[in-house]
Amino acid sequence: MKMRRNRRISRALSRDAYRLPPMKKLFIKTYGCQMNVYDSGRMADLLAPLGYAPSDAAEDADMVILNTCHIREKAAEKVYSELGRLKRLKDRKAQAGSPMLIAVAGCVAQAEGEEIVARQSAVDIVVGPQSYHRLPELIARVSRGTGHALETDFPAQDKFDSLPEEMAAPGASAFLTVQEGCDKFCTFCVVPYTRGSEYSRPAAQIESEARRLVEKGVREITLLGQNVNAYRGDGETSLAQLLHRLARIDGLARLRYTTSHPRDMSDDLIAAHAEIPQLMPYLHLPVQSGSDRVLAAMNRQHTAEEYLRLIERVRAANSDLALSSDFIVGFPGETDADFEATMSLVREVNYAQAFSFKYSPRPGTPASTALKQVPEDVKDARLQELQSLLFAQQGSFNESCAGRTMSVLFEKPGRKPGQAVGRSPFLQPVHVENAAHLIGQIRDVCIEEVQPNSLKGVFVREMAAVH
Ligand code: SAH
Ligand code: SF4
Ligand code: F3S
Repeated sequence: MKMRRNRRISRALSRDAYRLPPMKKLFIKTYGCQMNVYDSGRMADLLAPLGYAPSDAAEDADMVILNTCHIREKAAEKVYSELGRLKRLKDRKAQAGSPMLIAVAGCVAQAEGEEIVARQSAVDIVVGPQSYHRLPELIARVSRGTGHALETDFPAQDKFDSLPEEMAAPGASAFLTVQEGCDKFCTFCVVPYTRGSEYSRPAAQIESEARRLVEKGVREITLLGQNVNAYRGDGETSLAQLLHRLARIDGLARLRYTTSHPRDMSDDLIAAHAEIPQLMPYLHLPVQSGSDRVLAAMNRQHTAEEYLRLIERVRAANSDLALSSDFIVGFPGETDADFEATMSLVREVNYAQAFSFKYSPRPGTPASTALKQVPEDVKDARLQELQSLLFAQQGSFNESCAGRTMSVLFEKPGRKPGQAVGRSPFLQPVHVENAAHLIGQIRDVCIEEVQPNSLKGVFVREMAAVH
């Protein structure tokens, strides 16, 4: 007992000696894309030196950050209902004498700025996706009692130069943002407005971050960007060259990248799928629609045929590659024939996995004011039809994996004791028994059972013993 008290005193003394502030709890809720997941991690890293330790419940947090997404109306509205809940919690906590700060970060913060505080006065800080490195300063401003703090500047470069090197334990697989923003201006999309224009981080900065991740036990890195294949580090390094450079890091077993635009799928990137063994055989290449008329109205800058030829070239580089895409149904003016063209493109490509959405008009984007909006019930029917085809294709891709042996990177414990869940090279979740001790490692697994969204496997040696 005495020893424990002494230890506590000496810990308190050492915090004091280093002038560390008292421990506080930080709860971050992340919405939207993987880039937001990366940003949430970096916000936690940034606030750690201020004494904020991660918490997984808002109830015991001193600060809550909602890292938000503006891509569709539903995503943005979710934020306001969550803010309503948080306001009630903040009031209860204030009555109990424990104040709580609320910050809204991410793309809703960028798009709506002051409006957020006008709609929900409990919000203390609004910070855009390129300005969150200023969080410590914004917290200080609010703590001094100067009211709300708002920061929605754009320079992505400042952010990356100011982020701390230290990173919390990232697990076996980590995201690494290499490119931010978008100059493509698809007529349905808010990203160019919320994330600003394209910016590529210098290759050397990315390599150092990758090395630090690997030193912390990361075996797989997914390079992120809204248009990751438009990456041009230092004005000259292509994404393929960056991948080659990162593939030389000892201990980095797997590389992935997302999201790519068909227009930027260069020859060297296609060749990388044949040349770099660490580059996983999975490509997310959104097409959005199979109709040339709709593609033009979306300002996607390619035809359905050009996309199909691209897929052929990627498959020629690696025939054993899983393809994924995003689709929008009910874009303004989309006819039955346009939708049929999407269905026919899907049949021709045969995807392993895909995401599909009903078109959601976003304020400030050109398509939102188009006259020929598609009725909601038509969008619903098209989405259902497309999703059942995509679901069937995903099912047959998964079925084709039965009996195959593939490498699995174990990422976390499964639901059952001893079980672990990892990812196949094709990004499918794979559940394996007696694998909990292998988290962070890669093993060959034979796929024995196929479920709609995941696989079950056994170690190759165990399989030999059983059969
Ligand atoms: N940069 C990527 C996509 C980023 S947004 C690309 O070029 O493909 C992720 C996906 O959200 C998009 O691919 C699109 O399918 C969907 N999306 C974007 N805006 C949307 C909107 N207004 N309504 C419905 N879906 C949308
Ligand atoms: Fe949005 Fe188009 Fe840019 Fe993708 S390429 S982020 S869909 S504007
Ligand atoms: Fe959403 Fe912003 Fe990502 S709008 S999808 S969080 S870039």
